Amino acid sequence: MKVSTGIRNLDRVMDGGFVERSFNLVYGGGGTGKTLFTMNFLISGAESGKNVLYVTLEETWEDITRKLPPGIKERLNAVSKRFHYLDFGSMRPVLGREILKSDVLQEAISSSVVVNNVSLVGIDGIAPLTLYYDDDRRIRNAIFDLSQSLKSYGVTTVFTSEEIEGRSRYGVEEFVSDSVIRLIYTGRSRRLQVLKTRGSGFIGGLHGFEITNDGLQVYPRVMFSEGKREIRAEAIGISKLDTMIGEVYSGDVILLAGPPGTGKYLFGVQFIKNVCSSGKRALFVSFEDNLPNIKRRLMEMGEASKNCKLVHLDPGDMDLYKLMWEIRDRARDVSRMVIHGINVFSEREEYSDFVHSLFSYTRNEGISTLVTYTIPNIIGTNVIADKHVVNVANHIVKLLFAEINGELKRVLVILKAQSPNHERGLVEYRLGKRGVIIVGKIEEMEGIMSGTPTKQMEIQKRVQKFFK
Ligand SMILES: Nc1ncnc2c1ncn2[C@@H]1O[C@H](COP(=O)(O)OP(=O)(O)OP(=O)(O)O)[C@@H](O)[C@H]1O
Ligand SMILES: [Mg+2]
Repeated sequence: MKVSTGIRNLDRVMDGGFVERSFNLVYGGGGTGKTLFTMNFLISGAESGKNVLYVTLEETWEDITRKLPPGIKERLNAVSKRFHYLDFGSMRPVLGREILKSDVLQEAISSSVVVNNVSLVGIDGIAPLTLYYDDDRRIRNAIFDLSQSLKSYGVTTVFTSEEIEGRSRYGVEEFVSDSVIRLIYTGRSRRLQVLKTRGSGFIGGLHGFEITNDGLQVYPRVMFSEGKREIRAEAIGISKLDTMIGEVYSGDVILLAGPPGTGKYLFGVQFIKNVCSSGKRALFVSFEDNLPNIKRRLMEMGEASKNCKLVHLDPGDMDLYKLMWEIRDRARDVSRMVIHGINVFSEREEYSDFVHSLFSYTRNEGISTLVTYTIPNIIGTNVIADKHVVNVANHIVKLLFAEINGELKRVLVILKAQSPNHERGLVEYRLGKRGVIIVGKIEEMEGIMSGTPTKQMEIQKRVQKFFK
């Protein structure tokens, strides 16, 4: 049997939550959210009808409630009848350290558990135990006795400890705990890691984690999908390009990489316009500040954009784990999606997880996705340095500028496609009011990928001249 952690999305990471009648450690540095974790666990439990007990060993109850985010405080007030507490933080200065002696502590906690019919307990900050016990073995024994006593009452407990040099304070708490959760603040983002669960599986690695006004929220690094995928042939919706690429199926990822000015977003607009006109829904997520242009282009193409949801998300400091869950929420009812400007995140530590989780989700859900990637150099040989998107893409189209007969032209080349018969030559395209127009294949030119092509005939002439 499992007991919910009460923290949004954490049960998914922990295979349903805590094991019933277990003793669970949450540790982390100062301000990482240990107290709020404990409060959230207990408040959610009380909301589901359980009687709960909060034990503060370090801070006073008054200090703790004063610092609570307003939304959490409101939730606490609403369940105050089922929420009990023991304020050792206030008692200790009056009664002395004796009250931290294992049997005194146990006695106080178990009385409250029995009297109030408590099934969830939170013990916040075990550091004061060192005031009474001076060596690791004795602390370990004290914690072990406490855990056994609570388990014997059928209680599920969360207790918190501080992190010192990457480990929980005494390094002994882990051994007596059925599960261990570590909270991290990197200075930029919050992370949560499950290090152990006894008797069940969990999703390893660092997950996104956020403290909000009304509770904690985990953004697992892996996204779960309902796997609704139905495989059907699709058309990108750009005349002639579909024939050149060959087969595209629902759930495919199409990567469009090119320098600024090659009209990547216009390809995207056309990609979603096609399905929106037929009554299905599509989502355009842009990390560039160009929503008015996207809207205008859609209208020029005769699409009222009723079925096309357009969102601009400011990449700023946004955590990628949170971002992928946000995209997932918005993409629930869509059959097609554009992710415009994914390159802004390519230097982020969590980028690889982001790309793999997001696109395995879209693939499983059958959401066909066009991803645009801006390559910095306008002219010349550009490589797509991003191995992550390249690996997940089913089709890769590269856009470039090339100087042909003294004119700068827009050219595309299909670098990868599912179909073995895809077009391998270089194709000229134009950007018009009604979208992307494929002009046709460029014949008799070489070296276009470098940006400075030469006519094949001239090369042949030069070769012939050389051998004369
Ligand atoms: N309304 C809020 N929205 C977002 N973050 C908040 C809000 N209120 C508090 N926080 C953050 O919560 C953190 C404090 O959480 P908490 O008190 O649970 O940490 P802790 O690990 O128990 O700290 P300590 O080691 O000092 O006991 C702080 O980093 C604070 O910035
Ligand atoms: Mg605290």
